[in-house]
Amino acid sequence: MPKKSIIAGNWKMNLTLTEVHDFFQQLSLPPQCPHKIILAPQAPLIPIVTNHVQKLPISVAAQNCSFEKKGAFTGEVSAEVLASLGVEYVILGHSERRQYFAENEDLLSKKIRQCLESKLSVIYCIGETLTERNSGQLQNVLKRQLTCLTEFSQSNQWEQLILAYEPVWAIGTGQVASLEQVQEVHQFIQSTFKDSYPHVNLPPILYGGSVNALNAQDLFTLPAVAGFLVGGASLKPKDFSTILSVQ
Ligand code: 13P
Repeated sequence: MPKKSIIAGNWKMNLTLTEVHDFFQQLSLPPQCPHKIILAPQAPLIPIVTNHVQKLPISVAAQNCSFEKKGAFTGEVSAEVLASLGVEYVILGHSERRQYFAENEDLLSKKIRQCLESKLSVIYCIGETLTERNSGQLQNVLKRQLTCLTEFSQSNQWEQLILAYEPVWAIGTGQVASLEQVQEVHQFIQSTFKDSYPHVNLPPILYGGSVNALNAQDLFTLPAVAGFLVGGASLKPKDFSTILSVQ
């Protein structure tokens, strides 16, 4: 049986309005694509992308949301407003937000709560730096990053959670993790989940970090990989389409 899979493109702070129009003009989806396809544009372009995907099997994600419901938080975007724009997913815990915006587990659990309350699914990213990996901290770092999911394990919103393992050293570097490394970490996350939350279903675990048109097929064959969170290669319609062809 083919696995239920998700392939998401995180455009980060890339693609202008004109480039978004060009992207959709050039995008040709593989026929009968079995994957759930998600695109995450910059926040102001969400309505443009929602419009483009109206007749396509593509869902829209936001790259961030506020930790508060509403109010005097200049510059923030609420989960409620994202949901009202047709957004279905929010990427949270991305290493770039942890690194440049000092997002930690306390803040992230508040953001997750806002999303779940607004019926948005969360793609929760975890991953270690090279220093952490080389100093034997990999498992501790991942366990710490997963702690902010605990409070949701008793709720019926659990099914709205998706995980993405993105080793920081593989993001945007062209240095994809080896198949053995990916399989090993995904299995570790699975067993941590089974131990910590024995009563709930295992969320899908995506891999992210230098996924491209050439390596996607091999990565997808790993049993513990439920799909991808793609950065750079998702900006190129031809490459993204090739990644969507994996099976
Ligand atoms: P790259 O695919 O560019 O390495 O980025 C991965 C990523 O950070 C997706 O969220």
